[in-house]
Amino acid sequence: MKELSRRGFLQTAAVAAAAGALKPSTSLGHSEPTGRAQGPLAIASANGLPATQKAIDLMRQGADTLDAAIAGVNIVEEDPNDHSVGYGGLPNEDGVVELDSCVMHGPSAGAGAVAALRNIKTPSRVARTVMQRTDHVLLVGEGALRFARAHGFEETQLLTDEARRIWLKWKESHSDRDDWITPTDATGPNQRSQRLSDFTYTYGTINCCTRNTDGDLSGVTTTSGLRYKIPGRVGDSPIIGAGLFVDNEIGAAGSTGRGEAVIKICGAHTVVEAMRAGMSPQQACLHALKRIADQTKDQRLLRKDGRPNFDVKFYAVSKDGRYGAAAIWSGAKFAINTGDKSRHEDCAFLFERA
Ligand code: GLY
Repeated sequence: MKELSRRGFLQTAAVAAAAGALKPSTSLGHSEPTGRAQGPLAIASANGLPATQKAIDLMRQGADTLDAAIAGVNIVEEDPNDHSVGYGGLPNEDGVVELDSCVMHGPSAGAGAVAALRNIKTPSRVARTVMQRTDHVLLVGEGALRFARAHGFEETQLLTDEARRIWLKWKESHSDRDDWITPTDATGPNQRSQRLSDFTYTYGTINCCTRNTDGDLSGVTTTSGLRYKIPGRVGDSPIIGAGLFVDNEIGAAGSTGRGEAVIKICGAHTVVEAMRAGMSPQQACLHALKRIADQTKDQRLLRKDGRPNFDVKFYAVSKDGRYGAAAIWSGAKFAINTGDKSRHEDCAFLFERA
C-alpha cells in the first residue's frame, strides 16, 4: 500500500476530525478548495458529461431543476453502450435487466422512486411520475411496471445483444460447479481458475444533481444496479436518503458505487446533514465515506490492509452553489458544468490506490 499523499493525508485527517462530531468546516483545517458556481450548476458521476450539459442547457432556457436533471440522465439511460444504466445495462443473474431510480424535487420537497423495474428504458421518468401521480414514494417490480404501462410508457427488451454476450461470458466462467462451460475457442485467461479479487464487482450508475440561479435544487439517480445481482436485489439508487437526498434549504447529494454500503449509512442523507452542520460539499462527501470505511467489518469486503475492497463515490452541491465529490479510492472523476461546458474534475479521496 502506498503512503498517503499529502493531499490524501490532509483529507483523511480532516475526515477523521469530522468523524466524531459534525462541526463547521472552519474547525477541520481542511485545505482543499471547493468549487463554486454563481449561476446554474449540474454535477454528476463521471459518465454524466452529456447529462450535465443537457441539464444546464435546459435550465438556461428556464426548465425546472428536476426536469433538467432527468432529461440529462435520459441520454445515458437510452444509450445502449452504457452498460451500467437503463437500456443496454447489464442484467441480473437470470439475464434480465432490472432498473432502479429515484428523483427528488427540492422546491416542492417531492420524491418518487421505482425499483427492480423491467422493460422501461427510462426509470427516472417513471420515478417522477410516481412523485407526481401517486400518494406513494416507491413502487417496485411488477407493480412498478404496471404503473408505468398505465401511464403509457413504452415497453422494450432492455437486454442488448452486447450486454447478453457479456452476461453469457460471466455465466460460463463464474463457477466450476455448474453445467455452463466456457467455449473452447474462448480467448484470454481461463476464468474458472481465477479467484475473485479486489474491485471485482461493478456498480455503474448515474447520479445528477442540479441547482439553478435561485438556489433551487433537485436530483436523480438511475442504474441497472449491480451486474449479475440476485433477481429482486435493490441497491441504493432508488432509496431516498441513500442514493439521493435533496433538502432545498441545504443541498443535494447522490452516490454511485457499492449500494449495500451506501444504504447501511444512509449515504446521501448523511452528506446533506454534514453540509447542514457546516461542512463543505467535498468535506461532507469525505465524512460519509469515512463512515462507510469505519462500518465495513466483514472480512469478505476488506483488503489485507483493512480498507474496503470496493469503491463508493458521493457528489454534492450546496444551496449557495458550492460543489464537490469524493471517492473512497483515488483516481475517480466527476462531471461538472457551472454554466459553460461540461468537464471532468478529480474526486477527493480517502485512500490512495496503489
Ligand atoms: N449504486 C448502484 C447499486 O449498488 O445498485
